[in-house]
Amino acid sequence: MTNATLRATGQDDTQFGIGQERACAELAAGLTRPQASIAPKYFYDTQGSKLFEAICALDEYYPTRSEREIFRLHGAAIAEAAGQGAVLIDLGAGNCEKAASLFGSLRPRTYVPVDISTIFLQSAVAQLRQTFPGLAIHPLGMDFSETLALPAIIQAQPQKLFFYPGSSLGNFGPLQALRFLRNIREQDGDLLIGLDLLKDVAILEAAYDDALGITAAFNLNSLRHVNHILKADFDLGDWSHQAFFNSAQSRIEMHLCARQACRVSWPGGARVFEPLETIHTENSYKFTRDSATELLRRAGFAHIMSWTDPQQNFLVCHARAA
Ligand code: TRP
Repeated sequence: MTNATLRATGQDDTQFGIGQERACAELAAGLTRPQASIAPKYFYDTQGSKLFEAICALDEYYPTRSEREIFRLHGAAIAEAAGQGAVLIDLGAGNCEKAASLFGSLRPRTYVPVDISTIFLQSAVAQLRQTFPGLAIHPLGMDFSETLALPAIIQAQPQKLFFYPGSSLGNFGPLQALRFLRNIREQDGDLLIGLDLLKDVAILEAAYDDALGITAAFNLNSLRHVNHILKADFDLGDWSHQAFFNSAQSRIEMHLCARQACRVSWPGGARVFEPLETIHTENSYKFTRDSATELLRRAGFAHIMSWTDPQQNFLVCHARAA
């Protein structure tokens, strides 16, 4: 990846694909709301991306394993639905492993990994170039959580396949998810998406609160990242990881919970937290096969096909723009 590619997508010189000023304004606004929040994209500095890789290898975190199983069991049918030779646009590519596992069956013409964690993406792409020397790779370091604004050269390509695995769509609320899918649909691409299925609450909660404490470290790491970007003074020892299933909303909620009263300040602002007050860091919505299909249909997609693993833990859907 060239630096030009990175800068063209509007990031600063940090390892994060969003401008410093914008990030600070957004963070300060979230921290001072009655229910404090930090947007989930702030999990993903380089350390956070590595911790997320470790989460994906945990026994408790079934989504990655189940999705891999679906691609293994139904890879041929998925490739038949998706076709070969597309421009494969990988949203939130991370270490690019999931997409790379499909190169053999999907035979992409060009691979476009997109991620906010730019340094991490850069090293993943360097490795990928060694493994797949013949493949055209066009990495983009950018934040696509608000709008997916692809460079015109990518947008103009025929036969685009957007790849959005790992149930990342579940990190949006229902309206935001619909808006995001419509945004993809408007770019005239097909979609290959992973979604997590509703299941036993104990299994869901364990996936977001593992025995080794990796998920806790991942959640707490966002405070380290916020200290770095916002020049805030969070003391990580004041906070504990919290994850629970909210059944009314069909979502896992992740919070950071104040162990005691504490005051956090940053240039231009401050906030006092009472004991047990929380900072909301992420939601992870869980779907049924029907609710997933309905959402894709409402976003304007057609010819929706879906596959699941034998335990019915996870769902992979392919949908066409027209
Ligand atoms: N997108 C992932 C998910 O919803 C992110 C994730 C996994 C996560 N474990 C987490 C986010 C723990 C916060 C805390 O499954």
